[in-house]
Amino acid sequence: MIVLGVESSCDETGIALYDTAQGLRAHALYSQVSMHEEYGGVVPELASRDHIRRAIPLLEQVLKDSQLSLSEIDAIAYTQGPGLAGALLVGASVACGLGLALNKPVLGVHHLEGHLLSPLLSGTPPAFPFIALLVSGGHTQLMQVEGVGQYTLLGETLDDAAGEAFDKSAKLLGLGYPGGPAISRMAETGDPTVYKLPRPMLHAKNLDFSFSGLKTAVLTLVKNHTAPLSEQDKANISRAFVDAIVEVLVAKCLAALKQSGMKRLVIAGGVGANAQLRAGLNAAASKKRFAVFYPELEFCTDNGAMIAFAGALRLQSHPEAATRDYRFNVRPRWPLDQIG
Ligand code: KG4
Ligand code: ZN
Repeated sequence: MIVLGVESSCDETGIALYDTAQGLRAHALYSQVSMHEEYGGVVPELASRDHIRRAIPLLEQVLKDSQLSLSEIDAIAYTQGPGLAGALLVGASVACGLGLALNKPVLGVHHLEGHLLSPLLSGTPPAFPFIALLVSGGHTQLMQVEGVGQYTLLGETLDDAAGEAFDKSAKLLGLGYPGGPAISRMAETGDPTVYKLPRPMLHAKNLDFSFSGLKTAVLTLVKNHTAPLSEQDKANISRAFVDAIVEVLVAKCLAALKQSGMKRLVIAGGVGANAQLRAGLNAAASKKRFAVFYPELEFCTDNGAMIAFAGALRLQSHPEAATRDYRFNVRPRWPLDQIG
């Protein structure tokens, strides 16, 4: 079975073809980062319009790269939510329009399910069950995953997501957008002893997170700094920020593993690309004897491959999920543990 995946929930247009017999046949991505950079964040209306421009050329590219024709596609999976309503509508209409024209079934996929299953696309996929840490720009959640579609929420952020904290703190430091990679790079040359930032909810007896106070602590450091921030000051603050957020994320993962008795941890979402987080988790994994799995770096952030893949897995376990009713709606807010 060959599934076309369409991702357009935020500022990346992703199109991919996943073949259940041969694996990923092709994927193509267009990132709008340079367009949103000058505004310091994603401008939803610009994002929607750009998805319209990119979707069909990317589709043509994956067909060419895979040497498949439109008629060989068996089903079309698109991100139905969560995400920006206008941006989601573009992918949904492209997918459903194509489905109608080709008389192929379509299926709406949960964006976070795509992220969550993306490590299964790697060369060393985890077996079920596992604990998953979803750390993206919009979400920070710990889930217990028993199988495809069997997700139990164990804890989540009460305010900002981890990626959002990276982005907002980077903005305060004048490091540009997106902030995650920028802060991570700056932190490499930072002195860890200069500043100490709070570890929010580190000792709370639950698996929830809170990151807005960390961003406020960065703001306070920046405001209280008498001279303009030097590059070294920015590196030191970045280092303090990264150390704090990594310590909290690692500790909560350990607590989730302990609570569930599981030995496999899966990391997914854009912040999963973070080198310091990976180093912290790898160190904890060898010390505490559990296995940690990551998506390939290119599939940490938004992409079409994870949507095609999640769509294919869902079709295998729930064939009735696909429909030839091409009326569509999008779900900008859609809790992952509420998917059918
Ligand atoms: O999963 P994703 O592409 O989009 C959402 O679904 O939100 O995640 C984007 C987020 C952004 O907040 C970005 O700053 C963060 O992931 N990110 C990183 C890194 N690469 C991307 N954060 C920390 N370190 C990175 N290397
Ligand atoms: Zn995402």
